[in-house]
Amino acid sequence: MIQRNESSKPPIVVLTGAGISKESGLDTFRDEDGIWAKVNIDDVATPGGFRRNPTVVYEFYNMRRSGLNDPGVAPNAAHLALARLEQEWPGEVLIVTQNIDDLHERAGSTRLIHMHGELLKARCQSCEAIRVWTERLTAEDACPACGQSGQLRPHIVWFGEMPLAMDEIYEALGECGLFVSIGTSGSVYPAAGFVSHVRGRDTTHTVELNLEPSQGASRFTEKLYGPASELVPAFVERVLTRGW
Ligand code: APR
Ligand code: ZN
Repeated sequence: MIQRNESSKPPIVVLTGAGISKESGLDTFRDEDGIWAKVNIDDVATPGGFRRNPTVVYEFYNMRRSGLNDPGVAPNAAHLALARLEQEWPGEVLIVTQNIDDLHERAGSTRLIHMHGELLKARCQSCEAIRVWTERLTAEDACPACGQSGQLRPHIVWFGEMPLAMDEIYEALGECGLFVSIGTSGSVYPAAGFVSHVRGRDTTHTVELNLEPSQGASRFTEKLYGPASELVPAFVERVLTRGW
């Protein structure tokens, strides 16, 4: 449960997507060199794919999980700037990330919701326990909670499944004074619809920080384009020194 604190400044909600991790060496999904150009979504990111051939799915996430341990993969200036915003903004800052990597945590962010799950966790399909899992995951592994084998799956939200913590996310969207979307193409709902959820409230400013206009660009009050590692630190400095 995200703890609430009383404060004088309006809350900020930040949505992040794969683009914020690109300069940390992690692939996006829909860029030309993206993940979906190399593997078939149906095979690795749907419940049907997991039923048909679980080994392919385990190996897809094992490869991505081991990629997180690559010494070249580290939080970039954008992740660090968001951690600074949380520490220095005299109001609440919540990051809602579509990303399954741990770069926000490693940058120091603590008020964070992984709405599509986490690469470094496994979930038991028998007892629903969720556990940190940093090594290879296979069908043979036993659940640390109930001991059953063959029941563990990556703790990832696949297409057709309900993203996590949606009630908490919509509550935060309903109260925020600033909504910032960073590094996402705006292709996948419900995240792509968050900006519409806050739009129309004259008390909320909406900003898109991306390499190029997303599918939802027209719905944002303000749009800044360029690499996240340049845009985000400058935007955070602006918010902290003179608001939005
Ligand atoms: N700085 C800022 N933005 C960038 C950068 C960068 N250095 N590099 C790429 N981008 C932008 C791209 O222009 C693109 O708009 O990041 C966006 C990445 O879009 P996607 O690859 O579609 O990733 P994302 O929006 O996070 O996908 C959403 O789709 O496949 C599912 O579950 C998966 O969470 C993912 C969801
Ligand atoms: Zn179990």
